[in-house]
Amino acid sequence: MAGWTIRAFRIDDFDDARALWEASNGVGLDESDSRERIDAFLARNPGLSSVAALDGKIVGAVLCGQDGRRALIYHLAVAEEHRRQGMGVALVRACLAKLRGQGIRKCHIMVFGDNHQALGFWRHVGAKVRTDLVLSSIATEEGL
Ligand SMILES: CC(C)(COP(=O)(O)OP(=O)(O)OC[C@H]1O[C@@H](n2cnc3c(N)ncnc32)[C@H](O)[C@@H]1OP(=O)(O)O)[C@@H](O)C(=O)NCCC(=O)NCCS
Repeated sequence: MAGWTIRAFRIDDFDDARALWEASNGVGLDESDSRERIDAFLARNPGLSSVAALDGKIVGAVLCGQDGRRALIYHLAVAEEHRRQGMGVALVRACLAKLRGQGIRKCHIMVFGDNHQALGFWRHVGAKVRTDLVLSSIATEEGL
């Protein structure tokens, strides 16, 4: 018995999740990761994001959202002392089950190209690196 449980991410989990992300190399944080923006994200995507809780403490978290067609996973992190116990897989499985239930067939994952640990994890769960795609981003305040 693992002892930890996976449940929906609530805004009350924000401080613990933010501390976990800050402690996790490989998770990029910016102004979109404020309590207010995460609250808006959770409200737009009810029940899709999850946390792993152990003895009332948040030891894993993932954000997941969908736009009606495709989904995106970000900020998957497990506390260092609890890694390699299947928690990352359990968090992703929860996301995928909920997405399937909403009729979403494909989910993209944002990973820094030099994050070999995370790339190894995603390979393990069956994700395919898309060498045919290049991610480009544009800031709305600097755009056309
Ligand atoms: C990526 C991460 C979430 C994985 O969480 P985890 O709970 O350790 O993952 P799991 O225990 O479910 O791992 C399942 C499998 O993935 C693979 N895997 C996990 N970590 C790995 C690593 N560091 N190197 C290679 N393969 C790895 C293994 O095949 C593992 O199975 P095994 O332990 O039986 O060998 C965790 O390492 C983490 O928080 N990293 C820092 C944050 C980060 O980079 N997040 C990615 C943003 S998308």
